[in-house]
Amino acid sequence: MILVTGGAGFIGGNFVLDWLKEPKAEGIVNLDKLTYAGNLATLDLVRNDPRHVFVLGDIGDHALVTRLLKQHQPRAIVNFAAESHVDRSIHGPAEFVQTNIVGTFNLLECARAYWNELDESKKTVFRFHHVSTDEVYGSLSANDPAFTEANPYEPNSPYSASKAASDHLVRAWFHTYGFPVLTTNCSNNYGPYHFPEKLIPLVILNALNSKPLPIYGNGQQVRDWLYVGDHCSAIREVLAKGKLGETYNIGGWNEKANIDVVKTICSILDQLKPRADGKSYAKQISFVTDRPGHDRRYAIDANKVKRDLGWKPKETFDSGIKKTVQWYLDNPIWIEGVVSGSYRDWLQKQYR
Ligand code: NAD
Ligand code: TYD
Repeated sequence: MILVTGGAGFIGGNFVLDWLKEPKAEGIVNLDKLTYAGNLATLDLVRNDPRHVFVLGDIGDHALVTRLLKQHQPRAIVNFAAESHVDRSIHGPAEFVQTNIVGTFNLLECARAYWNELDESKKTVFRFHHVSTDEVYGSLSANDPAFTEANPYEPNSPYSASKAASDHLVRAWFHTYGFPVLTTNCSNNYGPYHFPEKLIPLVILNALNSKPLPIYGNGQQVRDWLYVGDHCSAIREVLAKGKLGETYNIGGWNEKANIDVVKTICSILDQLKPRADGKSYAKQISFVTDRPGHDRRYAIDANKVKRDLGWKPKETFDSGIKKTVQWYLDNPIWIEGVVSGSYRDWLQKQYR
Protein backbone atom coordinates (compact mmCIF):
# COMPACT_ATOMS: atom_id res chain seq x y z
CA MET A 1 0.00 0.00 0.00
CA ILE A 2 0.87 3.64 -0.37
CA LEU A 3 -0.95 6.48 1.40
CA VAL A 4 -1.95 9.36 -0.86
CA THR A 5 -3.36 12.55 0.66
CA GLY A 6 -5.53 14.94 -1.34
CA GLY A 7 -6.25 12.21 -3.88
CA ALA A 8 -9.71 13.56 -4.73
CA GLY A 9 -8.23 16.84 -5.99
CA PHE A 10 -6.91 17.70 -9.42
CA ILE A 11 -3.36 16.34 -9.37
CA GLY A 12 -3.87 13.76 -6.61
CA GLY A 13 -6.91 12.38 -8.48
CA ASN A 14 -4.95 12.08 -11.71
CA PHE A 15 -2.12 10.41 -9.78
CA VAL A 16 -4.47 7.80 -8.26
CA LEU A 17 -6.06 7.02 -11.65
CA ASP A 18 -2.67 6.75 -13.39
CA TRP A 19 -1.19 4.61 -10.62
CA LEU A 20 -4.06 2.11 -10.63
CA LYS A 21 -4.02 1.79 -14.44
CA GLU A 22 -1.05 -0.53 -13.91
CA PRO A 23 -2.64 -3.95 -13.14
CA LYS A 24 0.12 -4.95 -10.71
CA ALA A 25 0.25 -1.62 -8.89
CA GLU A 26 0.17 -1.56 -5.09
CA GLY A 27 -3.07 -0.40 -3.49
CA ILE A 28 -3.75 3.18 -2.42
CA VAL A 29 -5.25 4.52 0.78
CA ASN A 30 -6.59 7.91 -0.26
CA LEU A 31 -7.08 10.39 2.60
CA ASP A 32 -8.98 13.48 1.54
CA LYS A 33 -11.05 16.04 3.42
CA LEU A 34 -13.26 16.72 0.37
CA THR A 35 -13.06 20.48 0.55
CA TYR A 36 -14.71 22.40 -2.32
CA ALA A 37 -11.70 21.24 -4.45
CA GLY A 38 -12.08 17.53 -3.67
CA ASN A 39 -14.43 15.55 -5.81
CA LEU A 40 -15.27 11.85 -5.62
CA ALA A 41 -16.56 11.91 -9.22
CA THR A 42 -12.93 12.26 -10.28
CA LEU A 43 -12.37 8.79 -8.82
CA ASP A 44 -15.36 7.13 -10.55
CA LEU A 45 -13.10 4.93 -12.66
CA VAL A 46 -11.68 3.26 -9.54
CA ARG A 47 -14.89 3.19 -7.54
CA ASN A 48 -15.06 -0.61 -7.65
CA ASP A 49 -11.33 -1.26 -7.58
CA PRO A 50 -10.52 -3.11 -4.32
CA ARG A 51 -7.00 -1.65 -4.43
CA HIS A 52 -8.42 1.82 -3.74
CA VAL A 53 -9.53 2.68 -0.20
CA PHE A 54 -11.01 6.16 0.18
CA VAL A 55 -10.96 7.73 3.65
CA LEU A 56 -12.75 11.01 4.35
CA GLY A 57 -10.59 12.99 6.76
CA ASP A 58 -8.07 15.69 7.51
CA ILE A 59 -4.27 15.38 7.33
CA GLY A 60 -4.31 17.45 10.53
CA ASP A 61 -6.21 14.75 12.45
CA HIS A 62 -3.53 13.05 14.57
CA ALA A 63 -5.62 10.12 15.76
CA LEU A 64 -6.97 9.34 12.29
CA VAL A 65 -3.61 9.51 10.51
CA THR A 66 -1.97 7.39 13.23
CA ARG A 67 -4.71 4.78 12.93
CA LEU A 68 -4.49 4.68 9.12
CA LEU A 69 -0.73 4.18 9.20
CA LYS A 70 -1.01 1.39 11.75
CA GLN A 71 -3.83 -0.31 9.90
CA HIS A 72 -2.52 -0.11 6.31
CA GLN A 73 1.27 -0.11 6.90
CA PRO A 74 2.08 1.96 3.79
CA ARG A 75 5.58 1.83 2.35
CA ALA A 76 5.25 5.46 1.21
CA ILE A 77 3.20 8.62 1.68
CA VAL A 78 2.60 11.06 -1.17
CA ASN A 79 1.30 14.35 0.20
CA PHE A 80 -0.85 16.28 -2.28
CA ALA A 81 -3.38 17.61 0.27
CA ALA A 82 -3.36 21.39 0.32
CA GLU A 83 -5.31 24.54 -0.18
CA SER A 84 -4.02 25.42 -3.64
CA HIS A 85 -5.63 28.53 -5.11
CA VAL A 86 -3.70 31.82 -4.88
CA ASP A 87 -6.81 34.02 -5.23
CA ARG A 88 -8.57 32.19 -2.39
CA SER A 89 -5.45 32.58 -0.24
CA ILE A 90 -5.71 36.33 -0.71
CA HIS A 91 -9.36 36.37 0.43
CA GLY A 92 -8.82 33.94 3.33
CA PRO A 93 -5.30 32.83 4.28
CA ALA A 94 -6.22 31.00 7.52
CA GLU A 95 -7.14 27.68 5.87
CA PHE A 96 -3.83 27.79 4.00
CA VAL A 97 -1.86 28.05 7.22
CA GLN A 98 -4.00 25.33 8.79
CA THR A 99 -3.78 22.67 6.09
CA ASN A 100 -0.55 23.49 4.30
CA ILE A 101 1.57 24.15 7.37
CA VAL A 102 -0.11 22.67 10.46
CA GLY A 103 -1.54 19.76 8.47
CA THR A 104 1.81 18.89 6.92
CA PHE A 105 3.44 19.16 10.34
CA ASN A 106 0.92 16.68 11.74
CA LEU A 107 1.41 14.29 8.84
CA LEU A 108 5.19 14.42 9.30
CA GLU A 109 4.92 13.75 13.01
CA CYS A 110 2.50 10.82 12.62
CA ALA A 111 4.63 9.39 9.82
CA ARG A 112 7.85 9.76 11.80
CA ALA A 113 6.37 7.92 14.79
CA TYR A 114 5.18 5.13 12.47
CA TRP A 115 8.53 4.94 10.66
CA ASN A 116 10.45 4.76 13.96
CA GLU A 117 8.60 1.56 14.82
CA LEU A 118 9.21 -0.19 11.47
CA ASP A 119 11.71 -3.02 11.26
CA GLU A 120 15.00 -2.15 9.54
CA SER A 121 14.12 -3.49 6.08
CA LYS A 122 10.81 -1.56 5.94
CA LYS A 123 12.44 1.52 7.44
CA THR A 124 14.99 1.57 4.62
CA VAL A 125 12.42 1.54 1.82
CA PHE A 126 9.93 3.98 3.40
CA ARG A 127 9.50 7.37 1.64
CA PHE A 128 7.61 10.58 2.47
CA HIS A 129 7.07 12.45 -0.80
CA HIS A 130 5.98 16.07 -0.45
CA VAL A 131 4.36 17.63 -3.52
CA SER A 132 5.10 21.33 -3.77
CA THR A 133 5.14 24.24 -6.17
CA ASP A 134 7.56 26.49 -8.06
CA GLU A 135 5.74 29.48 -6.50
CA VAL A 136 7.94 29.15 -3.39
CA TYR A 137 10.79 30.70 -5.41
CA GLY A 138 8.91 33.95 -5.97
CA SER A 139 8.75 35.84 -9.24
CA LEU A 140 11.17 36.17 -12.17
CA SER A 141 11.81 39.12 -14.47
CA ALA A 142 11.53 38.56 -18.21
CA ASN A 143 15.22 37.75 -18.71
CA ASP A 144 16.06 35.94 -15.46
CA PRO A 145 17.19 32.32 -15.76
CA ALA A 146 14.58 29.71 -14.82
CA PHE A 147 14.31 28.49 -11.19
CA THR A 148 16.80 25.80 -10.20
CA GLU A 149 16.72 23.87 -6.92
CA ALA A 150 19.38 26.32 -5.63
CA ASN A 151 17.15 29.40 -5.93
CA PRO A 152 16.38 31.04 -2.58
CA TYR A 153 12.79 30.84 -1.34
CA GLU A 154 10.96 34.16 -1.87
CA PRO A 155 7.23 33.39 -1.68
CA ASN A 156 4.88 36.30 -2.37
CA SER A 157 1.32 35.08 -1.75
CA PRO A 158 -0.25 33.51 1.34
CA TYR A 159 -0.51 30.30 -0.72
CA SER A 160 3.16 30.19 -1.73
CA ALA A 161 4.28 31.26 1.76
CA SER A 162 2.35 28.38 3.31
CA LYS A 163 3.79 25.90 0.80
CA ALA A 164 7.29 27.29 1.43
CA ALA A 165 6.79 26.76 5.17
CA SER A 166 5.72 23.16 4.59
CA ASP A 167 8.78 22.54 2.38
CA HIS A 168 11.00 23.83 5.19
CA LEU A 169 9.37 21.48 7.69
CA VAL A 170 9.91 18.53 5.35
CA ARG A 171 13.54 19.49 4.84
CA ALA A 172 14.11 19.87 8.60
CA TRP A 173 12.58 16.44 9.34
CA PHE A 174 15.24 14.93 7.06
CA HIS A 175 18.16 16.83 8.53
CA THR A 176 17.11 16.59 12.16
CA TYR A 177 15.53 13.14 12.39
CA GLY A 178 16.93 11.40 9.31
CA PHE A 179 13.30 10.98 8.21
CA PRO A 180 13.32 9.80 4.54
CA VAL A 181 11.78 12.63 2.54
CA LEU A 182 11.63 13.69 -1.10
CA THR A 183 10.25 17.01 -2.35
CA THR A 184 9.15 18.01 -5.83
CA ASN A 185 8.52 21.64 -6.81
CA CYS A 186 6.39 21.73 -9.91
CA SER A 187 5.20 24.42 -12.29
CA ASN A 188 1.54 25.13 -13.23
CA ASN A 189 -0.38 21.98 -14.16
CA TYR A 190 -3.31 21.63 -16.54
CA GLY A 191 -5.36 18.71 -17.81
CA PRO A 192 -8.48 16.64 -17.02
CA TYR A 193 -10.37 17.04 -13.71
CA HIS A 194 -9.01 20.56 -13.09
CA PHE A 195 -11.36 22.57 -10.90
CA PRO A 196 -12.71 25.49 -12.97
CA GLU A 197 -11.48 28.28 -10.71
CA LYS A 198 -7.98 28.05 -12.24
CA LEU A 199 -7.19 29.84 -15.49
CA ILE A 200 -7.35 27.07 -18.10
CA PRO A 201 -10.57 25.25 -17.09
CA LEU A 202 -12.23 28.56 -16.19
CA VAL A 203 -11.58 29.92 -19.67
CA ILE A 204 -12.80 26.74 -21.40
CA LEU A 205 -16.05 26.69 -19.44
CA ASN A 206 -16.68 30.43 -19.62
CA ALA A 207 -16.12 30.34 -23.38
CA LEU A 208 -18.65 27.53 -23.81
CA ASN A 209 -21.15 29.33 -21.57
CA SER A 210 -20.90 32.64 -23.48
CA LYS A 211 -19.30 34.37 -20.48
CA PRO A 212 -16.36 36.82 -20.43
CA LEU A 213 -12.85 35.31 -20.34
CA PRO A 214 -11.25 37.27 -17.46
CA ILE A 215 -7.58 38.17 -17.90
CA TYR A 216 -5.92 39.81 -14.93
CA GLY A 217 -3.98 43.01 -15.66
CA ASN A 218 -2.38 43.05 -19.11
CA GLY A 219 -2.20 39.25 -19.52
CA GLN A 220 1.59 39.34 -19.93
CA GLN A 221 2.31 37.25 -16.82
CA VAL A 222 4.14 34.07 -17.74
CA ARG A 223 3.60 30.56 -16.39
CA ASP A 224 5.44 27.34 -17.29
CA TRP A 225 2.69 24.84 -18.08
CA LEU A 226 2.97 21.08 -17.51
CA TYR A 227 0.39 18.49 -18.49
CA VAL A 228 -0.84 16.78 -15.31
CA GLY A 229 -0.03 13.26 -16.59
CA ASP A 230 3.60 14.34 -16.93
CA HIS A 231 3.61 15.63 -13.35
CA CYS A 232 2.28 12.26 -12.19
CA SER A 233 4.99 10.37 -14.07
CA ALA A 234 7.64 12.66 -12.55
CA ILE A 235 6.36 11.94 -9.05
CA ARG A 236 6.45 8.19 -9.69
CA GLU A 237 10.02 8.52 -10.95
CA VAL A 238 11.19 10.58 -7.97
CA LEU A 239 9.40 8.27 -5.53
CA ALA A 240 11.13 5.24 -7.07
CA LYS A 241 14.60 6.64 -7.65
CA GLY A 242 14.97 10.03 -5.96
CA LYS A 243 17.82 10.64 -3.53
CA LEU A 244 16.66 11.09 0.05
CA GLY A 245 16.48 14.66 1.28
CA GLU A 246 16.72 16.06 -2.25
CA THR A 247 14.34 18.39 -4.00
CA TYR A 248 13.57 18.11 -7.72
CA ASN A 249 12.10 20.86 -9.89
CA ILE A 250 9.48 19.56 -12.33
CA GLY A 251 8.44 21.62 -15.33
CA GLY A 252 7.20 21.46 -18.87
CA TRP A 253 9.64 23.77 -20.68
CA ASN A 254 6.47 25.55 -21.82
CA GLU A 255 6.57 29.21 -20.84
CA LYS A 256 3.49 31.06 -22.05
CA ALA A 257 1.99 34.48 -21.37
CA ASN A 258 -1.57 34.21 -20.02
CA ILE A 259 -3.03 36.07 -22.97
CA ASP A 260 -1.44 33.55 -25.36
CA VAL A 261 -2.80 30.60 -23.37
CA VAL A 262 -6.29 32.09 -23.57
CA LYS A 263 -6.01 32.81 -27.30
CA THR A 264 -4.81 29.24 -27.93
CA ILE A 265 -7.82 27.83 -26.07
CA CYS A 266 -10.12 30.09 -28.10
CA SER A 267 -8.69 28.93 -31.42
CA ILE A 268 -8.97 25.24 -30.44
CA LEU A 269 -12.60 25.79 -29.45
CA ASP A 270 -13.19 27.69 -32.69
CA GLN A 271 -12.28 24.47 -34.51
CA LEU A 272 -13.87 21.90 -32.23
CA LYS A 273 -17.07 23.71 -31.30
CA PRO A 274 -17.54 26.90 -33.33
CA ARG A 275 -19.74 29.64 -31.89
CA ALA A 276 -23.23 29.83 -33.38
CA ASP A 277 -22.50 33.31 -34.81
CA GLY A 278 -19.30 32.08 -36.52
CA LYS A 279 -17.15 34.57 -34.59
CA SER A 280 -14.09 33.58 -32.54
CA TYR A 281 -14.32 32.87 -28.81
CA ALA A 282 -11.51 35.44 -28.52
CA LYS A 283 -14.30 38.05 -28.75
CA GLN A 284 -15.16 37.11 -25.16
CA ILE A 285 -11.73 38.09 -23.77
CA SER A 286 -12.11 40.71 -21.05
CA PHE A 287 -9.25 42.42 -19.18
CA VAL A 288 -10.07 42.73 -15.46
CA THR A 289 -8.43 44.18 -12.34
CA ASP A 290 -5.09 42.55 -11.64
CA ARG A 291 -4.46 40.14 -8.74
CA PRO A 292 -2.74 41.93 -5.80
CA GLY A 293 0.97 41.05 -5.74
CA HIS A 294 0.60 39.12 -9.01
CA ASP A 295 3.87 37.24 -9.72
CA ARG A 296 5.25 38.29 -13.10
CA ARG A 297 6.85 35.08 -14.30
CA TYR A 298 7.53 31.49 -13.23
CA ALA A 299 9.89 29.22 -15.16
CA ILE A 300 11.34 25.88 -14.13
CA ASP A 301 14.76 24.53 -14.99
CA ALA A 302 14.00 20.79 -14.95
CA ASN A 303 17.52 19.67 -15.84
CA LYS A 304 18.27 17.99 -12.51
CA VAL A 305 15.40 15.50 -12.70
CA LYS A 306 16.31 14.79 -16.32
CA ARG A 307 20.01 14.34 -15.61
CA ASP A 308 19.69 12.34 -12.38
CA LEU A 309 16.50 10.35 -12.97
CA GLY A 310 15.98 10.44 -16.73
CA TRP A 311 12.54 12.11 -16.51
CA LYS A 312 11.23 14.51 -19.13
CA PRO A 313 7.69 15.49 -20.10
CA LYS A 314 5.92 13.64 -22.93
CA GLU A 315 3.41 16.32 -23.89
CA THR A 316 4.13 19.60 -25.61
CA PHE A 317 1.82 22.49 -24.73
CA ASP A 318 0.09 22.08 -28.12
CA SER A 319 -0.66 18.38 -27.63
CA GLY A 320 -1.61 18.74 -23.95
CA ILE A 321 -3.93 21.70 -24.37
CA LYS A 322 -5.80 20.04 -27.26
CA LYS A 323 -6.35 16.92 -25.15
CA THR A 324 -7.51 19.09 -22.26
CA VAL A 325 -10.05 21.10 -24.25
CA GLN A 326 -11.38 17.87 -25.78
CA TRP A 327 -11.68 16.34 -22.30
CA TYR A 328 -13.86 19.24 -21.09
CA LEU A 329 -16.06 18.89 -24.19
CA ASP A 330 -16.42 15.15 -23.56
CA ASN A 331 -17.19 15.31 -19.82
CA PRO A 332 -20.26 17.48 -19.17
CA ILE A 333 -21.40 15.26 -16.29
CA TRP A 334 -18.19 15.77 -14.30
CA ILE A 335 -18.46 19.51 -14.97
CA GLU A 336 -22.09 19.67 -13.82
CA GLY A 337 -21.05 17.94 -10.61
CA VAL A 338 -18.39 20.49 -9.69
CA VAL A 339 -20.15 23.64 -10.82
CA SER A 340 -22.12 23.72 -7.59
CA GLY A 341 -23.55 26.47 -5.43
CA SER A 342 -20.27 27.08 -3.63
CA TYR A 343 -18.48 27.38 -6.98
CA ARG A 344 -21.00 29.97 -8.16
CA ASP A 345 -20.56 31.89 -4.88
CA TRP A 346 -16.81 31.99 -5.47
CA LEU A 347 -17.21 33.37 -9.01
CA GLN A 348 -19.53 36.05 -7.66
CA LYS A 349 -17.03 37.05 -4.97
CA GLN A 350 -13.97 37.05 -7.24
CA TYR A 351 -15.34 38.56 -10.45
CA ARG A 352 -18.19 40.82 -9.26
P1 NAD B 1 -6.55 20.80 -5.42
O1 NAD B 1 -6.94 22.03 -4.69
O2 NAD B 1 -7.20 20.47 -6.72
O3 NAD B 1 -6.74 19.51 -4.49
C1 NAD B 1 -6.39 19.50 -3.13
C2 NAD B 1 -7.04 18.28 -2.50
O4 NAD B 1 -6.63 18.26 -1.13
C3 NAD B 1 -8.56 18.33 -2.52
O5 NAD B 1 -9.07 17.06 -2.89
C4 NAD B 1 -8.93 18.66 -1.08
O6 NAD B 1 -10.18 18.12 -0.68
C5 NAD B 1 -7.79 18.02 -0.32
N1 NAD B 1 -7.55 18.64 1.00
C6 NAD B 1 -7.51 19.96 1.29
N2 NAD B 1 -7.28 20.13 2.60
C7 NAD B 1 -7.14 18.89 3.14
C8 NAD B 1 -6.87 18.41 4.44
N3 NAD B 1 -6.68 19.25 5.48
N4 NAD B 1 -6.79 17.08 4.64
C9 NAD B 1 -6.99 16.21 3.60
N5 NAD B 1 -7.25 16.61 2.35
C10 NAD B 1 -7.32 17.94 2.12
O7 NAD B 1 -4.97 20.92 -5.60
P2 NAD B 1 -4.05 20.39 -6.78
O8 NAD B 1 -3.99 21.40 -7.85
O9 NAD B 1 -4.42 18.99 -7.08
O10 NAD B 1 -2.63 20.40 -6.04
C11 NAD B 1 -2.15 19.27 -5.32
C12 NAD B 1 -0.80 19.60 -4.73
O11 NAD B 1 0.10 19.95 -5.77
C13 NAD B 1 -0.84 20.79 -3.77
O12 NAD B 1 0.00 20.49 -2.69
C14 NAD B 1 -0.29 21.95 -4.59
O13 NAD B 1 0.35 22.88 -3.78
C15 NAD B 1 0.68 21.23 -5.50
N6 NAD B 1 0.91 21.86 -6.80
C16 NAD B 1 -0.15 22.23 -7.60
C17 NAD B 1 0.11 22.78 -8.85
C18 NAD B 1 -1.01 23.17 -9.79
O14 NAD B 1 -0.76 23.75 -10.85
N7 NAD B 1 -2.27 22.84 -9.50
C19 NAD B 1 1.43 22.97 -9.29
C20 NAD B 1 2.47 22.57 -8.44
C21 NAD B 1 2.21 22.01 -7.21
P1 TYD C 1 -3.95 30.18 -11.75
O1 TYD C 1 -4.52 29.14 -12.65
O2 TYD C 1 -4.79 30.72 -10.64
O3 TYD C 1 -2.55 29.63 -11.21
P2 TYD C 1 -1.37 30.41 -10.38
O4 TYD C 1 -1.87 31.69 -9.87
O5 TYD C 1 -1.10 29.43 -9.29
O6 TYD C 1 -0.24 30.56 -11.34
O7 TYD C 1 -3.54 31.40 -12.66
C1 TYD C 1 -2.63 31.24 -13.75
C2 TYD C 1 -2.34 32.63 -14.29
O8 TYD C 1 -3.56 33.14 -14.87
C3 TYD C 1 -1.94 33.62 -13.23
O9 TYD C 1 -0.96 34.51 -13.76
C4 TYD C 1 -3.23 34.37 -12.93
C5 TYD C 1 -3.95 34.37 -14.25
N1 TYD C 1 -5.43 34.36 -14.19
C6 TYD C 1 -6.15 35.28 -14.96
O10 TYD C 1 -5.59 36.10 -15.72
N2 TYD C 1 -7.52 35.25 -14.89
C7 TYD C 1 -8.19 34.37 -14.09
O11 TYD C 1 -9.45 34.42 -14.03
C8 TYD C 1 -7.43 33.43 -13.32
C9 TYD C 1 -8.12 32.43 -12.42
C10 TYD C 1 -6.06 33.46 -13.41
